Amino acid sequence: LRKIVIAIDGYSACGKSTTAKLVASILGYKYIDTGAMYRAVTLYFLEHHISLTNPKEIARALEQIHVSFKVNTHNVSETYLNGLNVEKEIRKMKISNHVSQVSALKEVRTAMVEQQRRMGKERGVVMDGRDIGTVVFPNAELKLFMTADMMVRATRRQQELMEKGQLVELDKVIENIEQRDLLDTTRAESPLRKADDATVIDTTFVSIDEQVDEAVRLAVTKI
Ligand code: C5P
Repeated sequence: LRKIVIAIDGYSACGKSTTAKLVASILGYKYIDTGAMYRAVTLYFLEHHISLTNPKEIARALEQIHVSFKVNTHNVSETYLNGLNVEKEIRKMKISNHVSQVSALKEVRTAMVEQQRRMGKERGVVMDGRDIGTVVFPNAELKLFMTADMMVRATRRQQELMEKGQLVELDKVIENIEQRDLLDTTRAESPLRKADDATVIDTTFVSIDEQVDEAVRLAVTKI
């Protein structure tokens, strides 16, 4: 069997990472959460008060940032920033509320895309994000574009945050998702858009199992 690249893009909170993780584990592939990389960069920028309008400062900061992934004892992939586990930290609303400004910066994208291409070089990866099928791996064998109704996305995300111990009002979740979608689709550098050859999966009325089955079914046709 040949190993392929599976690119999963789409709007915020549509179930991309849930699907990507499960598909990767079924196929025995590596899962790479590119959103986590932008979140880790955002955490670093906030902690070090990096000015988003100072290219020199940004470049210097990026040289200091190393993002990696490690699986924990439950076989769940977790994000590390310069060797420190930041998985919990990067999921907080504070990061969600700043990440789209940071990820819009050209210097940040160039650095992250380079790492992502390196991580997927051997293929056998499921990568989720916003520009995987359009920019990072335009020749990915399988491209999925996920979408869902806003209320469904917001309530699922609110639930997810609650399970992580964060109580956030639904209004605030909706506001954040809308804001990120707007910034992510309208930015100058690699805006979020569906690749022409991507298959759309609308998860509004679909269970996680069904999403995963559909993705695996499509992947098998490419292997
Ligand atoms: O996937 P997640 O929602 O964690 O991504 C957080 C943010 O990172 C997105 O809203 C977007 O601004 C940015 N991102 C990106 N390109 C990617 C993945 C994420 O710009 N490939």
